[in-house]
Amino acid sequence: MDIVRATPDLAAALTAISLAAKRYWKYPESWIVAWTPQLTISREYVAASPTYAAVEEGAPVGFYALVLWPAAAGKLRAQLDHLWLRPDWIGRGLGRVLFEHAVATARQLGAADLFLEAEPNAEPFYRHMGARRTGERIGEIEGQPRVLPLMELDLGSHGAQGGDGGQGRGFLDRRGTLGRPRLRRCGRGRRQAPARHG
Ligand SMILES: CC(C)(COP(=O)(O)OP(=O)(O)OC[C@H]1O[C@@H](n2cnc3c(N)ncnc32)[C@H](O)[C@@H]1OP(=O)(O)O)[C@@H](O)C(=O)NCCC(=O)NCCS
Repeated sequence: MDIVRATPDLAAALTAISLAAKRYWKYPESWIVAWTPQLTISREYVAASPTYAAVEEGAPVGFYALVLWPAAAGKLRAQLDHLWLRPDWIGRGLGRVLFEHAVATARQLGAADLFLEAEPNAEPFYRHMGARRTGERIGEIEGQPRVLPLMELDLGSHGAQGGDGGQGRGFLDRRGTLGRPRLRRCGRGRRQAPARHG
């Protein structure tokens, strides 16, 4: 397993991962269709945004992307814009590896904090990783309200160490795993996909 800066030629493969990951939560297919524009990763997006893929045997199996925003007092904020895993990799430790890599990258890029709009089913994961809920965005899909948690992590206080200058290997090496994070074996996920509407 390597974590690499994604290149634009991976855009279609990353889109396939984001769609498959969203389907993991068993949403109606019409909702997936409605969300497809947001879940589509373009070549231009990959070129413009810090996007990192976990690659196993030459194929991406998960990725994250950051967007940097100017904030008050000359500071920068990092938005975790995407974090998706191929469903057969969910629950095996890769989410933590990618999240911690994102934290290290955001810090390396000079961000003071990391914020995100969470998939509701993923809020417990983000809480476990140290993020706190700061609010919510109330949207709507097919006439039903949908509450999206807004979450934030102060990069000054988060425990993740590292910062890899954008290469990935350095972060993993510092964890003593030499680019091969210890991941749980397939089929041993401890969680079930929750109810249809999250
Ligand atoms: C959310 C997601 C990225 C998490 O990745 P994951 O590989 O399942 O998480 P991991 O196995 O690395 O778990 C990391 C830690 O979080 C904990 N955790 C994960 N999900 C949790 C949950 N629902 N509740 C509480 N803790 C949770 C794990 O127990 C683990 O703890 P530990 O490392 O201290 O032992 C993954 O489930 C996913 O891609 N889901 C579908 C797509 C999605 O919703 N993405 C989020 C978009 S905002």
